[in-house]
Amino acid sequence: MNHPSPAFGVGSAAPPPPPPAAHCGAAGRDWRTSVEQFLSDLTDRNLRENALLELSKKRDIFHDLAPLLWHSFGSIAALLQEIISIYPYLSPPTLSSAASNRVCNALALLQSVASHSETRVHFLEAHIPLYLYPFLNTTSKTRPFEYLRLTSLGVIGALVKVDETEVIGFLLRTEIIPLCLRTMEMGSELSKTVATFIVQKILLDDVGLSYICATSERFYAVGQVLGSMVTSLAERPSVRLLKHIIRCYLRLSEHQRACERLINYLPDILKDGSINSYLHDDPGTRHWLQQLLHNVNTANRATNHQGRLDHIIGS
Ligand code: TRP
Repeated sequence: MNHPSPAFGVGSAAPPPPPPAAHCGAAGRDWRTSVEQFLSDLTDRNLRENALLELSKKRDIFHDLAPLLWHSFGSIAALLQEIISIYPYLSPPTLSSAASNRVCNALALLQSVASHSETRVHFLEAHIPLYLYPFLNTTSKTRPFEYLRLTSLGVIGALVKVDETEVIGFLLRTEIIPLCLRTMEMGSELSKTVATFIVQKILLDDVGLSYICATSERFYAVGQVLGSMVTSLAERPSVRLLKHIIRCYLRLSEHQRACERLINYLPDILKDGSINSYLHDDPGTRHWLQQLLHNVNTANRATNHQGRLDHIIGS
C-alpha cells in the first residue's frame, strides 16, 4: 500500500489469470463468466485490486452487478475490508493516490448497490453508509482526499436520488447533515455541489424539512453555510451549484418559521437581482428564485401587518 502503483495499475501482486474474453453480442455469456470470475477474485487479496478495477469499469453497462455483488459470497465483506483498511491513513492524513484510487473503485461498486432498487434496502439495513462517514470527516485538501470525499458523497447522492422517505429517515438518524455542511464549506466545487444536492434532497422530504427547521441552531447552521457559498460564488460563479443553493432556500421558504427568518437572512445578492446575470440560460432556476423572493416578501408583509396590528391593539 505504501508503494504507489500507477493509477489504475495492477500493482506488484501476482498478475491475475487472463479473464475470459469479454466480447459483445453472442459472447454475452462469456462476459457474464468474466464478471463472475472477478467477483470471486474479490475474495483473494492478491487478485482483489484488479478485480475492483475491472468490476468498477463494468458497473455502468452491467445492470445487475449490484444484486450479484450483494448475494455472492464474500464480495461485500471484501469491499468493507477495503474501506476499513485505509482508516489508519486518514489521521494524520497520509493516504497515497494509489490507495485512494483503489478504495474509490470499491466505493463505486457500493454506489451501484446503493442505486439498485433490489439492493438499496439491504444496503441501508446493513448501515453501510456509516462506514463512509470517516471519509467525509477528513479535511485534507490533497487530491487523494478530495477524490475520496467526492466518491463517498457520490454514494450518498445515489441513495437520495430516488426520493424514498426510508432513505431520508435513515440519514436523519445519522450525522450526515453536519458532514455535508462541512463539505459545503470547504470542499471543491464538485463536492460542494454533491453535498448541497444531498441537503436539498433531505429538505425536499417533509420529515427532512421539519427536522432541519425544528431548532434555530439547525436552521442557522444550514442558512449560514448556504449564505457563505453564495458569497463565494460571487467570486467563482458555478451555475450548477447556485441552482441547488436556490432550491434549498426555496424549500426553506416553504416552512413558515424558516421563511420568517429568511426575511433578514437571505443574502443581498439574491434579493437585489445581481445574481440574475448568471441565470440567463437557466429559466428553471430563475423561476425558483422568483418564487423564493415572492415567499419571503409575502412573509415580510404578513409580519409587518401583524406588527402594526399588535401596535394598534396595544399588545
Ligand atoms: N446532532 C445534531 C443535531 O441534531 C446534528 C446537526 C448538527 C445538525 N448540525 C446540524 C442537524 C445542522 C441539522 C442541521 O442538531
